[in-house]
Amino acid sequence: MAFDKNFLWGGATAANQCEGGFDKDGRGLANVDVCPIGEDRIKVISGKMKMFDFDDKHYYPAKLGIDMYNHYKEDIKLFGEMGFKVYRLSIAWSRIFPKGDEDRPNEEGLKFYEDVFKECLKYNIKPLVTITHFDCPIHLTKEYGSWKNRKIVKFYENLCHAIFNRYKGLVEYWITFNEINAILHAPFMVAGLYFEDGENVEQLKYQAIHHQFVASALATKIAHEVDPNNKVGCMFAAGTYYPYSSEPEDVFAAQQRGNMSYFFIDVQSRGKYPNYMLKKFERENINIIMEDGDLELIEKYTADFISFSYYRSRCASGDPSKYEKDQDSVSNIALDIKNPVLKQTEFGWTIDPLGLRVTLNDIYNRYQKPLFIVENGLGAYDKPDENGYVEDDYRIDYLRDHIKHMRDAVVLDGVELWGYTTWGPIDLVSAGSGEMSKRYGFIYVDRDDFGKGTLKRTKKKSFEWYKKVIASNGEDLD
Ligand code: BG6
Repeated sequence: MAFDKNFLWGGATAANQCEGGFDKDGRGLANVDVCPIGEDRIKVISGKMKMFDFDDKHYYPAKLGIDMYNHYKEDIKLFGEMGFKVYRLSIAWSRIFPKGDEDRPNEEGLKFYEDVFKECLKYNIKPLVTITHFDCPIHLTKEYGSWKNRKIVKFYENLCHAIFNRYKGLVEYWITFNEINAILHAPFMVAGLYFEDGENVEQLKYQAIHHQFVASALATKIAHEVDPNNKVGCMFAAGTYYPYSSEPEDVFAAQQRGNMSYFFIDVQSRGKYPNYMLKKFERENINIIMEDGDLELIEKYTADFISFSYYRSRCASGDPSKYEKDQDSVSNIALDIKNPVLKQTEFGWTIDPLGLRVTLNDIYNRYQKPLFIVENGLGAYDKPDENGYVEDDYRIDYLRDHIKHMRDAVVLDGVELWGYTTWGPIDLVSAGSGEMSKRYGFIYVDRDDFGKGTLKRTKKKSFEWYKKVIASNGEDLD
């Protein structure tokens, strides 16, 4: 048998991309709510255009999502039918602490997730909870500058105390920050950071990142104290950088770019700021303000497992002119260059199933800790028939190829892998573009980019396929 009998198969979502109910039961407004669809999105999510509230000129897809707030029982039942062993979901911080700086949590918010987790357990689905999937109460941005400000560490700690205590016995797998390295490219959407003219953006970003490192270590500490069964992971957007050519300059560029992501996990898993980063800070005059005890905390409370998203491998060149062509695309906010030998999805994302095996090996070789693939999948324009049924063979092909290489990484290379959750098992709003029409699901949701549709859920062809994959523990991929 390729995978351990306890291998965790499932799917992953984020609160702001599916829940909707943005103002229900005391929930406060968050950065992720005010990211509009359309041409201003990239400016807003990258912290260059101020958007701290709704206006009449834009449409905000997260307000409604796919209304999972009201449909979660139906949706989790479908996940149960597919045989999910795990469901990765995130909590919306502003449901629990609507403004972020209150002393006491909002009971209705706490109760909502308690019900959701109990619903999962009804189907023997373990919840894997992302504490922060990009969201931050907007009050914390307005009042404190969000993660720029040290005070937010305390507010995050309060959130951790509230959820670890309340969900003890219901949840044992946790992730502190989703795609922590994405803060570099989309600081407002990912961490509520907005930059005024004249602010030292690099300095502030790395200061904010330091605060997240401290918060993450504290979360791990608290989680273990509350319940020794808790396992707390870090999470980053992965995908090994390939050199554009075998020119040493390209190889070096690939290594350097890779380090900009590994930096986060070097700190969270090895427990130390790596030398290459300390040298960069020195060169660029970046001075991180730390409090006594920060470095000890980071060193002591490292991640129990390393989780990551993998959609594609990346490509780097030592020649700066190679980058100009591909910049500023909404769905390619990380500003990579195209790999000339690989195909891309309709949304311009490189397709590289073997790259998943490369990435798994790279991460495992570097850290020797258990890994968890918590996002992988194909965003595509689905064309449903009149009943909402989608023949998504292209999605099945994409997933099959990736799972095969994941299997090889486990069986042939000995990578220690706890589980695999596909991104968006049910169609949801795209984080990058805000579109609903960029779909990842095994379940089709009747909703368009501007909120029209019945919200009816319909199984796609891939639904039965994934069900079979799980039932056979990854043996039957046909
Ligand atoms: C990851 C995020 O970046 O990729 C998800 O963790 C996101 O929130 C997913 O939805 C896919 O990206 P996109 O832009 O296609 O939604």
